[in-house]
Amino acid sequence: MNMKVEERIKFLRRELHQHNHLYYVEDQPIISDFEFDKMLEELLRLEESYPNFFDKNSPTQRVGGGLVSSFNTIPHKYRMLSLGNTYNDQELKDFDHRIKKLIELEVEYVCELKFDGVSISLLYEDGNLIQALTRGDGTKGDDVTVNVRTINSIPLKLKGNYPQSFEIRGEIFIGLNDFEELNKKRKSEQLEPFANPRNTASGSLKMQDSREVANRRLDCYLYHLLGEGVPTKYHYNNLDFARKWGFKVSEHTELCSDINHVIQFVRKWEEKRHHLPFEIDGIVIKVNDLGIQDQLGFTSKFPRWAISYKFKAEQAITTLNSISYQVGRTGAITPVANLEPVLLAGTTVKRASLHNADQIEKLDIRIGDQVYIEKGGEIIPKIVGVVTNERNLFTDAICYIDKCPECHSELVRKEGDAKHYCLNVDNCLPQKKGKFEHFISRKALDVDGLGPETIELFLEHQLIDTFSDLYSLSYEQLLPFKKDGKKWARNIIVGLEQSKQIPFERVLYGLGIRFVGETVAKILAKEFKDIDCLTKASKEELENIDEIGEKISESVSEYFSNASNNELINQLKAHGLQFQSKEDDRLISNIFEDQVVVISGVFEKFSRDELKKIIEQHSGKIASSISKKTTFVVAGQNMGPSKKLKAESLNIPLISEEDFIKKIDVH
Ligand code: IVH
Repeated sequence: MNMKVEERIKFLRRELHQHNHLYYVEDQPIISDFEFDKMLEELLRLEESYPNFFDKNSPTQRVGGGLVSSFNTIPHKYRMLSLGNTYNDQELKDFDHRIKKLIELEVEYVCELKFDGVSISLLYEDGNLIQALTRGDGTKGDDVTVNVRTINSIPLKLKGNYPQSFEIRGEIFIGLNDFEELNKKRKSEQLEPFANPRNTASGSLKMQDSREVANRRLDCYLYHLLGEGVPTKYHYNNLDFARKWGFKVSEHTELCSDINHVIQFVRKWEEKRHHLPFEIDGIVIKVNDLGIQDQLGFTSKFPRWAISYKFKAEQAITTLNSISYQVGRTGAITPVANLEPVLLAGTTVKRASLHNADQIEKLDIRIGDQVYIEKGGEIIPKIVGVVTNERNLFTDAICYIDKCPECHSELVRKEGDAKHYCLNVDNCLPQKKGKFEHFISRKALDVDGLGPETIELFLEHQLIDTFSDLYSLSYEQLLPFKKDGKKWARNIIVGLEQSKQIPFERVLYGLGIRFVGETVAKILAKEFKDIDCLTKASKEELENIDEIGEKISESVSEYFSNASNNELINQLKAHGLQFQSKEDDRLISNIFEDQVVVISGVFEKFSRDELKKIIEQHSGKIASSISKKTTFVVAGQNMGPSKKLKAESLNIPLISEEDFIKKIDVH
C-alpha cells in the first residue's frame, strides 16, 4: 500500500513542478488553475496523512508556513560583488579599452537587462534547492531559504542534466502588475500602500512569516552561474543551460560582437524599457568568455569583466522651501534642502542632499526656487539644477553658515576639504551621538540591546561621556530609566559583555578614526596584530603598507598622538575589549585545504570546539552532517550508529582522535 502512496506522491510532485514551471517561467500553462489546485489539494492531503514522505522541496511547500525569528548569517562561497557603473557611451568605450589593453584580443560581450530588485544567491545540490542567501555585506548573507521557496518562478527541483552542485545568482523583484495588485489589496485593507516595487521586494524577502511572503508575488530572473561544474566556458551558453534546467532567464539577453553592438543594445532599451512589465535601471555588460573573465579578475570592489550602464535617473520639479544643516559623527556639516513634497519614482520626496557649500554655490540655488530633483542609486535624492527663468528676482544668494547649528562653535574648512567641520569633537551632541552609534553598530562592536535612542538617553542623562563609560554601566543604574525595564537593562549589560569578544579589527573600526573604514581597519589589525604596535607606528611605517596612503596614515598618527584617545584605549583594554588579533584566528597550515571534516562523538584530549578550531587553523572546513563531500570523520567515543553507517556506506574514513593528532603533529 505504502509503495503505491509513495509513487502517487512522487507523481503528483513531478506533475505540479512541471505545471508550475509552464505557468510561472514559460508563461504557457497547459492545464487550468482548477486542475492544478485539485492536484495540489490531493498532494497536500497525502502528505498530511503520510508525513514520512515529507520533502521540503515539494510543490506544497510554496505556500510557506515556516516562521523565523531571525535569519542566520552564512558566508558566501564566492564573494557577491556589485558592479561598477557607467553613464554614457564614452565610459562604455573606456571599459572596452581597459579590457582590450589587458587581453589584446577581440572580446565578445553579453548584454543583459539590469533588473531593479534584490540580488540572491541560490545553491543547488543534486537538482534540489538547498540554500538561498541575500548579498549581505558581500562576504556573508542572510539565509532566506524558507522565503525563497515560496517564489514560484524559482525551481525547487531541476530538470535535465544539471551539475551535482552549483550556485546561481539572480534578482528577486516584483512585476509592475503584481505590484499594483498588491497595493490595491492593501488599500482595500486600509493599509499604507507600498512605495515602490524594489523596496517591496527587498522588504518581503526579509519577512519572518513565509506565508506572508508567498502572498507578495515575488519573481526572479537568474543571470549568473557559478561553480566548478558549470557546463560551458561561455556565460551566454551557460545561461541557455540554466534555462533548460528550469530557471527563468531573460529572453532579452543578447550576445554582442563588439562595444558598438553593446551601445546599440543600450540605445534600444533606453527606449523600450518603459514597455517592460517590470522595472530595470540599466543594462549589465559582461565578457562572454569565462577564461577571459578569469584573466581579468576583480578590483577590490568589482569584477573587471562586467560593468553596468545606468539609465538616467528620473527627475521631478519642486520648490525649495528652506535649507537645514546636519552635523555628522565626524563633525562634517551637510546642508539639506527642505522641499515641497513631490512624487518621484514611486516615493514622496521632502528632502534632498546638497552635499556642501560649493555645491550650493555651483547650483546658485535660492530659497523659493523651482528645482530639479533626481533619484540616482542613492537613497537620498539630490538637486541637480534650478529652473532659473522662474526665479523670483528679489531673492538673495544663500549665505552658508559659519557656526555649528548645534553647539554654535566656529566652523572650519581645511584646505582640500569639501565640507565645513565643527571641531568641538568632545562637546557637540550630534557628533558624540554619531560616534557612539558607530561604535555600537553591527559592523563594529555590534552591541545587542543598544540603539540610537538609548544612546541619546544615556548622553542626555550624562551616564556616558566616552566609549569606556558604557562598560562601567550597571544593571541597577539602568533600571530606573524604564518602567518594567528589567529585561531592557539586562539585555544592554549582556550585549556589552558579549561585545568584549568582538575581534580587534572591528574594535579598531568602531573607534571611528577618520578614514579608517572596515577595510583599512582589517589591514591595520592584520599588519600590527596589537594596538600597542599600531600606536607606536610612525607615519612612514604606516605609509609603507599597501593600500595605506598619506591621508590615512596622517589621520591614524594624529589619532594616536592625542592623549585622551590613548587614555580611552587603556580604559577599554582594562574593560577587556580585544586589542590584539587572536592567535587562534591565524592559519597554521593548509593540510586540510579543500577538505570537509565531520566531528562526531566524545573525545579525550580535546573538546569538540577545540577540534573544530584546529581543523580550521589548518584550512579545513567543518560540516555538521556526513555527505558525499565529507573527506573524513574524526570519530570519538559514542559516535551515533546511524552516522557510522552512513560514513561506511559512503566509504568515508573514520579517524580516531589519536590518529588525528598524528596527522597535525607531522606538520
Ligand atoms: S551581474 C559580478 N547581472 O545589479 C556580477 N547583476 O549593480 C554581479 N543586477 O548586485 C552581478 N540585473 O543585484 C548582474 N543582469 C544582471 C543584473 C544584475 C540586476 C543587480 C545585482 C548586482 C547589481 C550591481
